[in-house]
Amino acid sequence: MSILELSGVKKSFGAVQVLHGVDLKVWPGEVVGLVGDNGAGKSTLMKSITGVYTTDKGSVIFDGKDVTYHSPGERREMGIEMIYQDLALAPQQDVANNIFLGREPTRWLLGILPSFVQKSRIDEQAQEMLDRLGVHVPSVHIPVGMLSGGQQQTIAIARALTFQPKLVIMDEPTAALAVREVESVLKLIEQMKKDGIATILISHRLNDVFAACERIVVLRRGNVISDLKRSATDMAEVVSYIVGAHG
Ligand SMILES: Nc1ncnc2c1ncn2[C@@H]1O[C@H](COP(=O)(O)OP(=O)(O)OP(=O)(O)O)[C@@H](O)[C@H]1O
Ligand SMILES: [Mg+2]
Repeated sequence: MSILELSGVKKSFGAVQVLHGVDLKVWPGEVVGLVGDNGAGKSTLMKSITGVYTTDKGSVIFDGKDVTYHSPGERREMGIEMIYQDLALAPQQDVANNIFLGREPTRWLLGILPSFVQKSRIDEQAQEMLDRLGVHVPSVHIPVGMLSGGQQQTIAIARALTFQPKLVIMDEPTAALAVREVESVLKLIEQMKKDGIATILISHRLNDVFAACERIVVLRRGNVISDLKRSATDMAEVVSYIVGAHG
């Protein structure tokens, strides 16, 4: 069974129609690249999955349930996580606190009230999480704002994974990263795949898309105009779809 199924998703802002009836299926453990020109509607489509936007028409089925009218909170609860380009981390807080930022304590400390939550416990769990993911930071005690862009990106992913998601959407996770940092993000995606987590990766960097994704979906002016297997395509073809060489 697919983990996500979009059917006929339409979205307008005022008089401007941004999504023109998008169909998309994603399977558990699948890594799908979503590419397209600036303004093609990628972020809008993803926000329609997380519930930030309600679609005007069409349906969003997640994990076998119709979530078209569910709130973002309900969808997150069901296992949809999105990592935004600005990451939404608290730079002055340390690594460990960021990983558990905004969490209801009942979900991760078995009902212990926040005032009784020991910092040492948070640090310990954060370190465990990072070790499990193979993420290396100098210490969980240093403020996130002092980490490199790539390290911050991996912390944002680690944070998303503590919610035990079934689908993770990443909007341009590698845009600002150096080569080595890109590698660690792509490694994390691979790791998530092994755990059966589906990923939708939005990126303008086709190298990263081809490295991480077995399937590449091209959005153009609010329509899916191609849905390609990596093994059956190449960058030139993907670019030709992005720029509309096929009409
Ligand atoms: N909240 C909004 N109100 C009005 N128009 C919007 C809103 N959000 C997006 N749009 C418009 O919808 C279109 C698609 O935007 P979207 O952000 O989804 O594109 P994108 O494919 O993510 O582009 P990029 O690659 O530049 O991030 C754009 O023309 C944008 O101006
Ligand atoms: Mg965008």
